[in-house]
Amino acid sequence: MTTEPRSTEPRSAGASPAEAARPAAAQPDSARLPVAVLGATGLVGRRLVARLARHPWFKPAALFASERSAGRAYGELVPDAANLPADTAALTVRACAWSGTDMAVHETLVFSALGADVARELEPALASAGALVVTNASAFRMDPRVPLVVPEVNPDHLALAASRPFGRGAILANPNCSTIGLVLALAPLHAAFGIRRVHVVTLQARSGAGLAGLQDETLTGDVVPFIAGEEEKLERETARILGLDLPISAACHRVDVTHGHTLAVSVELETEVETAALAQAFEAFVAPADVAALPSAPRRVIELVAEADGPRPVRDVDRGDGMAVSIGRLRPCPILGHRFVTLSHNAERGAAGGTLLLAELARARGLLGDLLERGDT
Ligand SMILES: NC(=O)c1ccc[n+]([C@@H]2O[C@H](COP(=O)([O-])OP(=O)(O)OC[C@H]3O[C@@H](n4cnc5c(N)ncnc54)[C@H](OP(=O)(O)O)[C@@H]3O)[C@@H](O)[C@H]2O)c1
Repeated sequence: MTTEPRSTEPRSAGASPAEAARPAAAQPDSARLPVAVLGATGLVGRRLVARLARHPWFKPAALFASERSAGRAYGELVPDAANLPADTAALTVRACAWSGTDMAVHETLVFSALGADVARELEPALASAGALVVTNASAFRMDPRVPLVVPEVNPDHLALAASRPFGRGAILANPNCSTIGLVLALAPLHAAFGIRRVHVVTLQARSGAGLAGLQDETLTGDVVPFIAGEEEKLERETARILGLDLPISAACHRVDVTHGHTLAVSVELETEVETAALAQAFEAFVAPADVAALPSAPRRVIELVAEADGPRPVRDVDRGDGMAVSIGRLRPCPILGHRFVTLSHNAERGAAGGTLLLAELARARGLLGDLLERGDT
């Protein structure tokens, strides 16, 4: 059970202890692209702002949330704002406007950490006004106009957005926070052996349900075997990203863990191999060179956990600055052939860090185009 306070997001404005100790980016402001963050006061938005505040290419310049937060300095609204640069903490939070037209974020890179209902209205409005929206919300993940991308796995899907399908701008989507851990584990196996079928049971942390999830007293000491829409997202998004018509059976559970989604995966491969071959495939997996060079890319995207009882959220969730997927407990499965456990940080790899990596990829592949000409290139 969690030992962290439930009333606020526990870490320094979203940073891990190692991150909090790291100084903010030293680059001159003029060399960084000003970006906007929607939902900046939420669990994901705080982590996004903390990452952006020390980012070499981007800097937080416009922060948006609901009417409840509007008009107040960002530093007053988030805990441990002292870890943020003074100019970020001093930004006045503005309310999202439904039309999107008076938010003054046209031709801007916009990170969205809004809930799906708000995102469904606002993100296309901003994109058609010329923004490039990189979103955590689920609203458009299955929309054929929107690339759904895990940069190490399907970076070429970004090309879908090159034609600016929403008019002047585009939306790029980060997958569901459990999908990312599953996709990063399945991609090397599919490349090496082919995959026939997958069964996955998730144990998903409180923080996957946002700040409200951290505060949910009813979850204390409990397991909830239902998360609305989650099993469908995991099944559909994984198939879309891998480009496979893959039978996947998912069973999703909310558990009393603070951060980190654990997945117990069983897989049937097209090729008959010893389970040790799966470990070799995980070890050998590397991102495309341009993805591996991005500022938010982890040094190793898959980390094999040596301990017999791992991976475990408390011990392993921050591996690779929260951007690595930990895999352990590789063993034969009497039904599907092989089984293992994955762990990834839902709010970092699965959200804030994931969208930042996606935006970096968009910039590296030229998708930001004239947006970046006003800043660093
Ligand atoms: N939590 C995760 O691990 C995770 C992982 C992957 C994806 N996601 C997705 O990321 C998004 C954000 O999740 P979260 O966990 O950060 O949620 P959260 O903690 O509940 O934060 C929600 C944010 O949205 C703002 N907001 C709420 N209603 C609004 C409205 N009507 N207009 C404008 N802003 C509004 C809130 O502002 P106020 O502070 O002013 O209320 C807050 O900034 C969701 O789509 C979620 O599904 C989350």
